[in-house]
Amino acid sequence: MAILVTGGAGFIGSHTVVELQNAGYDVVVMDNLVNANPKCLKRVEAITGKKVPFYETDIRDREGLEEIFTKEKIDGVIHFAGLKAVGESVEKPWEYYDNNITGTLTLVDVMRKHGCKNIIFSSSATVYGDPAFVPITEECPKGTCTNPYGWTKSMLEQVLSDIQKADPEWNVVLLRYFNPIGAHKSGTIGENPNGIPNNLMPYITQVAVGKLKKLSVFGDDYDTPDGTGVRDYIHVVDLALGHVKALKKLEKGSGLNIYNLGTGNGYSVLDIVKNFEAATGKKIPYVIKGRRAGDIATCYASAAKAEKELGWKAQYGIKEMCEDSWRWQSQNPNGYDD
Ligand code: NAD
Ligand code: UFG
Repeated sequence: MAILVTGGAGFIGSHTVVELQNAGYDVVVMDNLVNANPKCLKRVEAITGKKVPFYETDIRDREGLEEIFTKEKIDGVIHFAGLKAVGESVEKPWEYYDNNITGTLTLVDVMRKHGCKNIIFSSSATVYGDPAFVPITEECPKGTCTNPYGWTKSMLEQVLSDIQKADPEWNVVLLRYFNPIGAHKSGTIGENPNGIPNNLMPYITQVAVGKLKKLSVFGDDYDTPDGTGVRDYIHVVDLALGHVKALKKLEKGSGLNIYNLGTGNGYSVLDIVKNFEAATGKKIPYVIKGRRAGDIATCYASAAKAEKELGWKAQYGIKEMCEDSWRWQSQNPNGYDD
């Protein structure tokens, strides 16, 4: 079974390519490199010792997709390609809807024309909005998203569910990720944000490596144990392994399935700072600022369904997440640009 990984040169995609190749799958990667560096795939090849066939193509480029599906024998798609910056999506909603929604519609159309009806889609805990309850189970009602990025995920879940309902030959797995951090143990691949990071862990590692002065903690007046926001951080390698398990499920002809991929543990912003300092010996100066627009107090998963149905459970704890994020950042202060 050859698997097409869209967005496979990105953060989660590249880690998933490693685990797919380790598990014996043939993998083909496509990415338009809008948020990735092709050097990443060379490093993936160095880790696995296997070639990664790569197409520099956009998911909105029908001809480019046709070429891939004609040349390669693709049995399933793991679909990571998408724009993901929350703040940017508020500034550029058209670009986000076009890239993520037009792109996915084009991809799915080309897939069905080539008789490929197996897809795993990167969704997000953001579809729960401000969750009705925690820990969040998959039955938790979807909520009101606070930005266009979140809406693209919520809408694409609906699109893919409707397509599967109309044509039961489709097998669709919607994976709702919580907060991926960490990096491959080798320290050679990792998260490589453009400009000033929006997300907590890359911000912390850039403070630790001296590129940024101090962390701004967005709000200490939430209804949480220390007043700062609580999230379910998950090691990116665990997340990648979740895709391998989801693929096994999909191969059995499983119809539509939805899983949370989280650890079930919530950590506050200050917990992460303390754990990072303990794991790395680096001091992280911080200042308390006002709340960030659109943020919620608490978000963590119930990961019970994925454990029961996929046999998947996160293995790495917060110490390893911090150590591995730091190994990547300290060995690659400028990401893939050296
Ligand atoms: P990333 O930006 O590192 O990876 C996305 C990849 O898709 C990039 O390599 C980018 O170049 C590529 N891409 C974007 N638009 C494309 C297009 N039109 N055609 C082809 N390639 C395109 O992000 P990531 O963190 O690895 O996220 C992967 C997926 O998981 C995304 O869909 C994201 O929305 C989703 N997700 C991420 C998080 C997170 O916190 N990182 C959380 C929930 C869901
Ligand atoms: N935070 C800070 N300072 C920073 C950055 C973040 O205090 O410089 C805080 C936030 O306020 C929040 C927590 O750290 O309380 C985590 O923030 P992130 O930006 O790292 O992550 P989010 O939970 O906001 O969102 C992330 C992804 C989304 C995805 C979601 C899924 O950015 O794309 O996880 O749970 F949908």
